[in-house]
Amino acid sequence: MSDPQQFSATEFFDSQPPPPRLEEHLVAVQRFVESNLRQGRRVVLVTSGGTTVPLEHNVVRFLDNFSAGTRGAASAEHFLRSGRYAVIFLHRQHSLQPFSRHYSHSTNPFLDLLDVVDGSAAAASSHDAFTVGKGKAPEFPPPQDGHLFPPIPSMHSPPTSPRSRAVPLDGVLSQQQQGPGEDVSIQIRPQNLTPMLSLLRSYKLVQHLNLLESIPFVTVSEYLWLLRGISRVMGQTTDADGQALGRRGMYYLAAAVSDFFIPYTKMAEHKIQSGKGSLVIEMDQVPKVLKTMVDEWSNEGFIVSFKLETDPAILIPKARGALERYGHQIVVGNLLETRKHEVVFVERDGEEWLRIPADAERGAGGEVKEIEEDIIEHLVALHDGYCGGASV
Ligand code: PMT
Repeated sequence: MSDPQQFSATEFFDSQPPPPRLEEHLVAVQRFVESNLRQGRRVVLVTSGGTTVPLEHNVVRFLDNFSAGTRGAASAEHFLRSGRYAVIFLHRQHSLQPFSRHYSHSTNPFLDLLDVVDGSAAAASSHDAFTVGKGKAPEFPPPQDGHLFPPIPSMHSPPTSPRSRAVPLDGVLSQQQQGPGEDVSIQIRPQNLTPMLSLLRSYKLVQHLNLLESIPFVTVSEYLWLLRGISRVMGQTTDADGQALGRRGMYYLAAAVSDFFIPYTKMAEHKIQSGKGSLVIEMDQVPKVLKTMVDEWSNEGFIVSFKLETDPAILIPKARGALERYGHQIVVGNLLETRKHEVVFVERDGEEWLRIPADAERGAGGEVKEIEEDIIEHLVALHDGYCGGASV
């Protein structure tokens, strides 16, 4: 076993290969920042989700950091909603994303929001279309070729029926398909229409205004390469008057980043074989990059880091320690158990708790309030102050 190495940030980047599409992502980020600076918007980098540490180059096994990406995805959405920020969303591949998070497989499985309605009755009367069950119930075809159902066509394959068309039904856009023997439409269940329409409109608006740039990572190495690249681009990009984004940039680091990793040169090439007894893994420490980010990459941007702990007694001391060590603006502390309804803002001159009622304390019909809404409101106000009270 070789001695564990203490990597500096520079040594880390010298020894770990960059992710394959790094340059492509950075060119896109540069265009995104320039375009939003021209519109007078601020730009926030939101990091979200957990990083992995692969054990093999041909990776079969890896260690993962806890995070579903809930905090990051919700926060990105609230930054967008403020209308003042364009968001670079650096997220763990396949973790929750702004907008689509509302219809994740676990919260609102997408297919359960839709109905198949058979017969032209639904299209003939737009009011019928809102009434689930008024159309003829879909018939299930008999098994074919020994299979229960036919192969599922690819989403990207051309439409099978030339007569497939979008049918507007009192604001519902359903797809009606009429092929030989087919006269069916897909409808959004009425109770889902209003929230879905609102979500879809918001999402399309954000796309139309070019306010969201999403970039995925998987490993801790990819995360750090992208974090450095994006921060540098944000730090260096200037507007038409030659003014840097500078203080108008925000870095909201909610990702759960691994503290340990296996360096590229020490990693097994192929799947680690069993049969030799227990597996002993030695990992080196991932360099803390926050100091370098403050001093070299971010060009005075407003940096928010998160601190996750499970022991309440050490949360504030650890958050305070990070603030002193790295010299950034604010640490948002949270405990694993209570993170969805309380956080603490730790700044150099004090701390302030933010609490919302826990799920169990909410009234029966009480709307679901997300703590991220209040976190973002608080941070935007602090960012205003940091930018000298300027509204952009
Ligand atoms: O996604 P959810 O399920 O909603 O969970 C959200 C969350 C609990 C993961 C989130 O709120 C949170 O607390 N994220 C930070 C977790 C954490 O404690 O990370 P850390 O101690 O590894 O890092 C602290 C800070 O330094 C982080 O902001 C991180 O981005 C940054 N860091 C960490 C390591 C490193 N090498 N460089 C860094 O910059």
